[in-house]
Amino acid sequence: MKRYSRITGTGSYLPPRRLSNADLVAELAAKGIETSDQWIVERTGIRARHFCAPGVTCSDLALEAAKNALQAAGVEAQDIDLIIVATSTPDMVFPSSACILQHKLGIAGCPAFDLQAVCSGFVYALSVADAMMQNGTASRALVIGAEVFSRILDFNDRTTCVLFGDGAGAVVLEASDTPGILATDLHADGKHVGILCVPGSVSGGQVLGHPLLTMDGQAVFKLAVGVLDQSARAVLAKAGKTEADIDWLVPHQANIRIMQSTARKLKMSMDKVIVTVDEHGNTSAASIPLALDSAVRSGKVKKGETLLLEGVGGGFTWGSVLLEL
Ligand code: ACO
Repeated sequence: MKRYSRITGTGSYLPPRRLSNADLVAELAAKGIETSDQWIVERTGIRARHFCAPGVTCSDLALEAAKNALQAAGVEAQDIDLIIVATSTPDMVFPSSACILQHKLGIAGCPAFDLQAVCSGFVYALSVADAMMQNGTASRALVIGAEVFSRILDFNDRTTCVLFGDGAGAVVLEASDTPGILATDLHADGKHVGILCVPGSVSGGQVLGHPLLTMDGQAVFKLAVGVLDQSARAVLAKAGKTEADIDWLVPHQANIRIMQSTARKLKMSMDKVIVTVDEHGNTSAASIPLALDSAVRSGKVKKGETLLLEGVGGGFTWGSVLLEL
């Protein structure tokens, strides 16, 4: 019998320190950086973001999100046989935040690794976990997106520092006789490395290059709207479905205008799009599972409904997961 995978629980965690646009505008003004609530809301839809306290790491956020997802699924940490953490802001260069998380969960033995595909990280991680369920390598996985993007922001660059936040989202994915995940679609094009990157590296005990996020926002915007539409059509075709079958679009939360454009191209009303960018900002790999968990917990998204998850980000990477909850 064919094996599938199914999400059986979701969880998330936001660090307690919430900065409204007004809070951030005031902090930046003190450094001589000029921005405004109006600019941020009009260009991005962001009204607030959460930042970690000093010393809090990716695996700390992942742990809280994982605990919530395990509780929602009614699964014990001891029963998990695979951990994938999608992140671009891990605790250390190595070992992976997934290994650190595994120890914090009080378990040992199962494979644990980080997956780095920037803002597409969660759809990449979910696709990999799904493949490992299908081939019998795993039966009960924790798939997590966790980021502390505040650590790699240049607070002297107003074109990027107003856009991002910290947080984590998690799902428990279990093997199942019925889908679950209906189809996945992943892509990358490395020629666009330079439009969105943190170009620094560690070498000889020193950081070489610029260790903070740089982005050509307009180039990212143009690429994002094109590839998200292509990937949505590809994943629907693989599953033998059409736009009309989608109950909810759960897109990467980067910019409300990118989400509106994607919805328009898919002929979906914005009422069917899960939007959390206003409260979370762009939390990179954490944004989709954070949005998913908030929609599940609010009762908006229900079991049995069909969801299209779409990510896009640095690399350039992009992809989609079509699933029945
Ligand atoms: N406050 C006030 N003014 C600002 C700010 C700010 N925070 N930032 C830029 N401006 C100014 C610029 O200096 C420019 O001024 P000028 O016309 O006098 O030169 C003006 O606003 C317009 O700047 P643009 O860059 O043209 O603004 P745009 O409308 O393109 O919006 C934005 C910028 C929000 C970054 C947009 O391009 C965007 O969302 N891009 C996509 C980002 C994204 O989706 N990233 C996702 C992937 S993230 C990942 O993978 C980690």
